[in-house]
Amino acid sequence: MRLVLLGAPGSGKGTQAQIMQARHGLPQVSTGDLLREAVTAGTELGRAAQVVMQAGGLVADDIMLGIIRERLARADARRGFILDGFPRTQAQADGLSTLLQDLGTPLDAVVLMEVDPEVLLRRLAGRRSCRRCGRVFHIETNPPAPGDRCADGRAHDLFQRPDDNEATVRQRLSIYRERTQPLIDHYERMGLLRRIDANGTLDEVDARLEAAITPR
Ligand code: AP5
Repeated sequence: MRLVLLGAPGSGKGTQAQIMQARHGLPQVSTGDLLREAVTAGTELGRAAQVVMQAGGLVADDIMLGIIRERLARADARRGFILDGFPRTQAQADGLSTLLQDLGTPLDAVVLMEVDPEVLLRRLAGRRSCRRCGRVFHIETNPPAPGDRCADGRAHDLFQRPDDNEATVRQRLSIYRERTQPLIDHYERMGLLRRIDANGTLDEVDARLEAAITPR
């Protein structure tokens, strides 16, 4: 299965991709996570990306396409993948189509996760991630269960993403509407788009997502 999860910041792409990765054994390919790893490693890409991410902008298309080309060439992506946060622009969508055409592995579906604006803001305000294992939590709706630990047995080391502040969130939402929302029509025209109501609990959204990707 080769899948794209499309949706605004906070719509639950990363959370659902992690659930699906565990269930289906398909790698979650999150461009946000790949960029944050580069920031932590202090590479040249990471230093440049950090400035863009703090401002709520988008990293250049050619850089993102290079990252995706390298990631999808790895062995674990041969059986399929879940793209989370990519593509985000028309140029990225076109580049992805060309890349997958060359590999002879077209997309199976693009799932649009639709969430009410006030729910998005609540989700982003309460999001916390584990610095070590990368799991995504929410202080109210999805805190770590009692006794839930990282793989190494230590308690999760939660932090709030620096781009989850009010000003940057406003800019990320505006960039989403301007640059990414047009991809909805693009994938609809290609016959790949499936829409799901991504309001509701984690389990409800999970069930709707599974139903949307089940072959008809
Ligand atoms: P990225 O990390 O991709 O951020 P994003 O797209 O803004 O998406 P988020 O990670 O904010 O939200 P999500 O939909 O994954 O929600 P989550 O599951 O965490 O990108 C960050 C930055 O990197 C970008 O701004 C850009 O600068 C750069 N970048 C990345 N990709 C790029 C690209 N392709 N091109 C150019 N630049 C790029 O959920 C949010 C919260 O809600 C969590 O706390 C979660 O626990 C909770 N939650 C989720 N689902 C539910 C539910 N059903 N009920 C209750 N709570 C829920």
